[in-house]
Amino acid sequence: MNVLELDDVRLDLPSRRGDRSLLRGVSLSLAPGEALGLVGESGSGKSMTLRTVLRTEPAGARVTGRVLLDGEDVRTLGAAALRRVRAEAVTMISQNPRAALNPVLRVSRYLVEGLRDARGESAEEATRRARDLLARVGITDVDRCMASYPHQLSGGMLQRVVIAAAVASTPRLLLADEPTTALDVTTQSEVMAILDRQRREHGMAMLFVTHDLELASAVCDRIAVMYAGEIVEIATPEQLHAAPRHPYTRLLLDSRPSITARAVELPVIPGRPVAAYEVEGGCAFAARCPWAEPRCERDEPALVHDAGRATRCLRAGELAAELAGAPAGTPGGEGETEVRA
Ligand SMILES: Nc1ncnc2c1ncn2[C@@H]1O[C@H](COP(=O)(O)OP(=O)(O)O)[C@@H](O)[C@H]1O
Ligand SMILES: [Mg+2]
Repeated sequence: MNVLELDDVRLDLPSRRGDRSLLRGVSLSLAPGEALGLVGESGSGKSMTLRTVLRTEPAGARVTGRVLLDGEDVRTLGAAALRRVRAEAVTMISQNPRAALNPVLRVSRYLVEGLRDARGESAEEATRRARDLLARVGITDVDRCMASYPHQLSGGMLQRVVIAAAVASTPRLLLADEPTTALDVTTQSEVMAILDRQRREHGMAMLFVTHDLELASAVCDRIAVMYAGEIVEIATPEQLHAAPRHPYTRLLLDSRPSITARAVELPVIPGRPVAAYEVEGGCAFAARCPWAEPRCERDEPALVHDAGRATRCLRAGELAAELAGAPAGTPGGEGETEVRA
């Protein structure tokens, strides 16, 4: 059974100018121990998708569809069961570790109390485990770290502390929302290695949100590409790189930075990203798509599953060869995509 299954999840948020649709039918699944990357431009709905799992979406949001955790719909759980899910089954780590820690508590308090709450351990047991966890996430001076307040530690150290706390409860599912974006490249790879080891040793599944397609490709079994509140393509990293089937994925690949000039933001694709609530029928990507035809503005593509992959493009079949081959950003032309390094 899948650890997580999202089935046609929609999220609408009331605003002064009427309801705004932020998720327009997200469906995905994660097997035990699997890592699924969720990739897309800022504002495409990646964080909002994660928030539907722990039910931490903005107040007033209307969510429909099913979010199955080990087969049980978390959207219909009562308060006690939801608390249990948050404490035991699912953990979320975010881009900013400082937000997760109480600034007036030392790391030792944060970790030891967390462990005691989650597992009912004695203070001595919890302290021993906290120290062990810190060592496992690569902290060399455990004494100093335990005695520190959050402001005394670097972002990389703090994120390790947060990860130590996150993996302490050996969750079935880790929701990682750009966990390494604020870290330097070396720390970033160390943190990813820690998460990867946790995944292999405990069969933890991971939904990994990032704007970095290369990073997602390096650590994930499959990648879901999001655009304007929906998934436009799901495939393995190998499939995506060798033969992307959605024009948006092709442009993401063409505009990715080189290894030597690693971008901190997603490279620019011509045209403005479209918010989910701005889509008015037709394909959400049509306005920016070099391959769009009149029917793309009119007819809404469905996410079509085919041999383990899925693509949401009316022209996927006829464009397959062209999207797989050409490094060019536009049909028949030289690459025109800008790269912002
Ligand atoms: N609290 C909120 N209230 C209203 N709109 C929001 C809120 N949080 C995010 N949004 C909007 O929802 C959309 C998706 O946001 P988000 O999931 O954070 O994107 P991503 O994580 O992919 O960058 C964006 O258009 C964003 O402006
Ligand atoms: Mg986000």
